[in-house]
Amino acid sequence: MNPQRGVLIAGNWKMNHDLRETEQFFFGLKELAEKELNRKTIRSLFETNKLRTCIFPAALSLSQSLVHAQELPFPLSIGCQNAHWEKKGAFTGEISGPMLQEIGIQWALVGHSERRQLFGETDATVRKKAQSLLEQGFAIILCIGETKEEREAGQTQTVLSRQLTEGLPQIPTLLNEPVNGPMSEPIWDRLILAYEPVWAIGTGVTATPEQAEESHSFIRNELIRLQGETVGKAALILYGGSVTPQNFDALLACPNVDGALAGGTSLKVDSYVKLIQACIKSLHQPTLP
Ligand code: PGA
Repeated sequence: MNPQRGVLIAGNWKMNHDLRETEQFFFGLKELAEKELNRKTIRSLFETNKLRTCIFPAALSLSQSLVHAQELPFPLSIGCQNAHWEKKGAFTGEISGPMLQEIGIQWALVGHSERRQLFGETDATVRKKAQSLLEQGFAIILCIGETKEEREAGQTQTVLSRQLTEGLPQIPTLLNEPVNGPMSEPIWDRLILAYEPVWAIGTGVTATPEQAEESHSFIRNELIRLQGETVGKAALILYGGSVTPQNFDALLACPNVDGALAGGTSLKVDSYVKLIQACIKSLHQPTLP
């Protein structure tokens, strides 16, 4: 990580945690955070935007999660796992940006590999979603990553380059457009990339820090090539794929790994808090009494 850019710990709950489990998670998180996290340290990190946290619950738990998040001793954003690019219309089963904003959601995951592999999302649909949601003022985490077969065939960088070239929205246009949404942050604070090698997701096999850094620095250079230095250097690139408190320190020590998108680890309060603690430690913030 780079202290200038700061870090983000995002949790993707996927199709887990019903309403009762969601409530239990947030009660547990409040209790543990009050005990384990130094209020002053964490407040100063959040105020300077050096540390951000976000959880992506299932759609039916979004409203409840928003209410519970407000009771936490630190700011936690709540985001949706998927949203349609159109604002309304005949799209059975879909949810739109304005509907999400109406209940207070400002974050969205875009192009997770499960959406791509199981629900037919392509780079083209990923781009439409990313473009539309950014225009509406959302912060998005756009996920990319190669499969095991692609890595073994030596195609990792080709795949990442294609996913970025074809999936990234038109940022120069966005930079010139006033955003009417609730978020006033500049575009590079709202466009976050997640490198998630498909072979590492939910498998217990994590990319080594060397593999992660190689891909993350490649992604950053591609971002600079495609979007220019301002966006490319400032955008956060998260690592995702079997992140645990045990392997996270070494990943976070990589200069271009700016946090995590954790699946299984984010479902449990203690392991989610450990990821936050690892970030606080690596930001070297002096602990105030
Ligand atoms: P995992 O999932 O941490 O359970 O591997 C990560 C993800 O799919 O975002």
